[in-house]
Amino acid sequence: MYTQSLNTREAHAAEDPVREARFQARVDAEEKIEPNDWMPEGYRKTLVRQIAQHAHSEIVGMHPEGNWITRAPSLKRKAALLAKVQDEGGHGAYLYAAAETLGVSREELVEQLLNGKQKYSSIFNYPTLSWADMGIIGWLVDGAAIMNQIPLCRCSYGPYARAMIRICKEESFHQRQGYEIMVTLCRDGTPEQKAMAQEALNRWWWPVLMMFGPSDKDSQHTDKSMRWKIKRFTNDELRQKFVDATVPQGHYLGLTFPDADLKLNEETGHWEFGEIDWAEFKRVIAGDGPCNRQRMKQRKDATENGVWVREAALAYAEKRKARRDAAMRIAAE
Ligand SMILES: [Fe+2]
Ligand SMILES: [Fe+2]
Repeated sequence: MYTQSLNTREAHAAEDPVREARFQARVDAEEKIEPNDWMPEGYRKTLVRQIAQHAHSEIVGMHPEGNWITRAPSLKRKAALLAKVQDEGGHGAYLYAAAETLGVSREELVEQLLNGKQKYSSIFNYPTLSWADMGIIGWLVDGAAIMNQIPLCRCSYGPYARAMIRICKEESFHQRQGYEIMVTLCRDGTPEQKAMAQEALNRWWWPVLMMFGPSDKDSQHTDKSMRWKIKRFTNDELRQKFVDATVPQGHYLGLTFPDADLKLNEETGHWEFGEIDWAEFKRVIAGDGPCNRQRMKQRKDATENGVWVREAALAYAEKRKARRDAAMRIAAE
């Protein structure tokens, strides 16, 4: 299987204007591209990069919330948080499987995460300091993820689009459980709980806006991704949609956004916001955020500590196969 995909990959590397035109016509007609269809090498590479980064984000994203499972304030909260963190692991698994349909193995992808060649979302390099962070992550981080991912349900690549449909359903549960924590803290909570929620919003708001990636004028990948219908909206369009949807929710909670320039433009109907600190974004992406080292160390340890489990599973699968083969030989004789 893997050798075959390498051969396919070589065949794809050759430029072929006729096939490329046919491919683009299918994309323009909103047909789904499937794993065995011809595709330009750039399309394959863009998808591998994007799906891998998405898969890594799901897995690394389990750490900041996993940190609070033992300290959830009630059985109900613990059960919901546990289910949510587990869902994220499932999202990572589907997405690695979707990437594998493009001829890379999961092992290769994990290797590239660990050696720093592939990234995960910058947001997961921030620490979770209070219980209110669990509310904020669900409300804002999952909320931003949904804004990004709903259009991906219509992505031109079939396996990615189909994975996103299921993932988005679960993300919407995550967002609601987060907002419900915020409602409990802010509308029904004590002044201390409300202050804790406000403090969490102050820390997370700007990093969440950075989740949509660089501004359109600095984004390297947008044009081609839009033409190939991998992306349907630009980073800035999605960021604006998110701000417009989220600000009224924050006001309902009685919270103040940490942005003196945030104001509603009555004419356009959009919430205008201040300048993002792109230097911070670049620093965190380059590995120098508050938790980058800790997150990568946890991933490395998990990979190393899991070697024996993977070896045992493989040995067991081989033993079963040998037994099945022998049984089939006997049946054939
Ligand atoms: Fe997820
Ligand atoms: Fe989620």
